[in-house]
Amino acid sequence: MVQTGGHDAQRDLQGFFMRGMMLAGGAGTRLFPLSQVVSKQLQPVHDKPMIYYPLATLMSAGIRDVHLISTPHDLPVFERLLGDGSQWGIDISYGVQEKPEGIAQAVILGESFLREEPFTLILGDNIFHGPIGLEAEVLEFRDGALIWGYPVEDPQRYGVIEIDDSRRVLSIEEKPDRPKSKLAVPGLYVYDGTAIARAKELKPSQRGELEITDLNLSFLNDRMLRAVELDPEITWLDSGTHESLLDSSNFIATVEKRQGQKVACLEEIAYQKGFVSIEAIRQTIQKMPSSPYRTYCERAILG
Ligand code: TTP
Repeated sequence: MVQTGGHDAQRDLQGFFMRGMMLAGGAGTRLFPLSQVVSKQLQPVHDKPMIYYPLATLMSAGIRDVHLISTPHDLPVFERLLGDGSQWGIDISYGVQEKPEGIAQAVILGESFLREEPFTLILGDNIFHGPIGLEAEVLEFRDGALIWGYPVEDPQRYGVIEIDDSRRVLSIEEKPDRPKSKLAVPGLYVYDGTAIARAKELKPSQRGELEITDLNLSFLNDRMLRAVELDPEITWLDSGTHESLLDSSNFIATVEKRQGQKVACLEEIAYQKGFVSIEAIRQTIQKMPSSPYRTYCERAILG
């Protein structure tokens, strides 16, 4: 049965559709020389380009209006890959970040798309698998900022948060020597419309970037930063190094083989969420070249 899209539920509850931004710029230095030819977020993660996974996360949360930001060099390839999104019943628009001057800079670049309304931001190299509850959070979101905390063994490598019982963030520290918790911050954020003005107030860090941690600190200082602790059964992968890229591919391949179901099959999600009709998705599938991906879509969606 086709599920009711979160789009309608969002409209009923909030009178607007939450927009989503995907960041697919950056330098990708750690993936050199792979990233010399192909942007990090276009690298294969098992059987799909990396960007499919964060897009699947947004679509699964009922987010249908998406803005992708990338470099002048890579943007045309993303456009060729994803198009305007109509094949999945969503709208995808594109924006350029001339230089990798920080994740928070992208919030400023997306100003005309965001229209000072709440939005979800996801980094193009972050892969989530399992029920992260983003759709429910999006529906309930009113103001402030919401981030996630994922328990890791080596918090020193990440932004680390401390949270109280009411989900309020008490502290956030970037790569601390002595972490106050094991909760690392993944690349998924929900912000209210003040995020743009706050990002404009930020000063570049020593490495010359507008830091997302500083944007989060701006909300924290106003006691408006909350966090959801992710269940350790959920998998969060950041595929920014050769090792984690291989781990991500191996993980997705194992899950898909075991469960006989693809992760981040955008056609399947679009149909399940009610974004597209069976006839429309049939036409999309018919345009695919003969491939295991097409065979899967035919079996999983058309039956
Ligand atoms: P990072 O992994 O922090 O940076 P990077 O992608 O440039 O890689 P490296 O550290 O190996 O040089 O970026 C996290 C995500 O944010 C990634 O998906 C790229 C994106 N990003 C931008 O879109 N613009 C930016 O200015 C930065 C810094 C990152």
